[in-house]
Amino acid sequence: MSRKMKNKVVTNLTIERIASEGKCVGHHDGKVVFVTGVAPGDVVDVRITKGKSSFMEGEPVHFHQYSKDRIEPFCPHFGTCGGCKWQHINYDLQKNYKRQQVLDQFQRIAKVEIPEVLPILGSEKTRYYRNKLDFTFSNKKWLTLEQIRSEEDFDRNALGFHIPKMFDKIIDIDHCYLQGGISNEVRNELRAFALEKNYSFYDIRNQVGLLRNLIIRTTTTNQTMVIVQFGESDPERIQEVMEFLKNRFPEITSLLYVINTKGNETFHDLELITSSGLPYIEEEMEGLKFQIGPKSFYQTNSEQAYELYKVARDFADLKGDEIVYDLYTGTGTIANFLAKQAKQVIGVEYVAAAIEDAKVNSQINGIENTLFYAGDMKDILNEDFIQNHAAPDVIITDPPRAGMDEKVVQMLLRLAAPKVVYVSCNPATQARDLALLGEKYQVQKVQPVDMFPQTYHVENVVLLTLKK
Ligand SMILES: C[S@@+](CC[C@H](N)C(=O)[O-])C[C@H]1O[C@@H](n2cnc3c(N)ncnc32)[C@H](O)[C@@H]1O
Repeated sequence: MSRKMKNKVVTNLTIERIASEGKCVGHHDGKVVFVTGVAPGDVVDVRITKGKSSFMEGEPVHFHQYSKDRIEPFCPHFGTCGGCKWQHINYDLQKNYKRQQVLDQFQRIAKVEIPEVLPILGSEKTRYYRNKLDFTFSNKKWLTLEQIRSEEDFDRNALGFHIPKMFDKIIDIDHCYLQGGISNEVRNELRAFALEKNYSFYDIRNQVGLLRNLIIRTTTTNQTMVIVQFGESDPERIQEVMEFLKNRFPEITSLLYVINTKGNETFHDLELITSSGLPYIEEEMEGLKFQIGPKSFYQTNSEQAYELYKVARDFADLKGDEIVYDLYTGTGTIANFLAKQAKQVIGVEYVAAAIEDAKVNSQINGIENTLFYAGDMKDILNEDFIQNHAAPDVIITDPPRAGMDEKVVQMLLRLAAPKVVYVSCNPATQARDLALLGEKYQVQKVQPVDMFPQTYHVENVVLLTLKK
């Protein structure tokens, strides 16, 4: 079946709805066809890229009819860059589809009784909402078909994003609508400076080249952190780049660099050098300050993070005398946000550096009723831990996309806290975990929150209470 179907074109397929992961679905010969780059209401010819016994996957090759719900994408990089794949759908519909995703996953996987899924909390900003972007320098600029066919000689140096599924091809970005502040200027002017100076852009296949990666982080308090990764140790040129950024952009409050000669771009295990300014930036929420170092995680949409935390706080409904566990606490943002309303908050997180940040964040805010532990949740949250700490009245859990390890879910059932607030960035794994928690808990409230407009991603907060 798969060989025969591959590359076959299915004609006049009506796209019915959006499924998970942003793919749309239609039906052909009784089979589901998942299609990328289309919108519900489109009628298209689809080239099949994958054929299985129960479903097919494909991409559009010809549009017979465009959906009336389509809008003109605002970004010139749309369609090539993997970033904002839903720009062709208006924002109200995006929100409906996201809420529908939660509903679908809960009905399909959780199989527990759920109350009405509340209307999604939309993001006020639908552009320039990210506080962190990560750009890659490359000597393998991605060229369009027209550019290749033109046989012109193109400069192949680029600074931008990875093309989906092509690890060595980078789309050169002129303007990105995801991050505001000086983000676009810093990227474009650094690239122009590097080209003028003839610095080498990274060659990922051969693992050589001076300029490797650029990270820009911004805050609602107007601070900016810029981190440049160099693929080679070349003190003179590194100094030139740092001087250029410092002089051209006095708005940069934290300028750092790192020399990374490893096979990958992660720098958690490397030393970062502060070239000028402070080694961190500061975010603020209800008068609380959060220090964000170059290795610290912070929710990437700061304004919506505040909305998300308010939902979690609302669901937790603390009176002041509760013991709260904040599982997967990251840099302790939720723990510190709730500390004033609780007797004690205990945060647990895998990344030791994040736990150090969480402690600093308690300290600089004069918060004394938090405790933080670093380690794998399934190892830390054990019988000893329970013996040595007060039993929780409320558990907040905010796991990564993979959801909670089954051992952790079993521990939650064993702890049987009266209330669990489950924050998730993946309703499918959340639904899976809820199916298990259903043994003791019932779902009271479901509140989707949109943190990432123009994408299919949805955050979802669920309130669980012990069954009577
Ligand atoms: C979605 S983030 C939550 C961040 C935090 N609640 C916030 O709002 O800033 C998930 C966190 O879980 C941590 N994590 C992932 N796997 C883990 C594990 N097995 N044990 C403990 N923490 C883990 C990650 O390092 C990350 O900080």
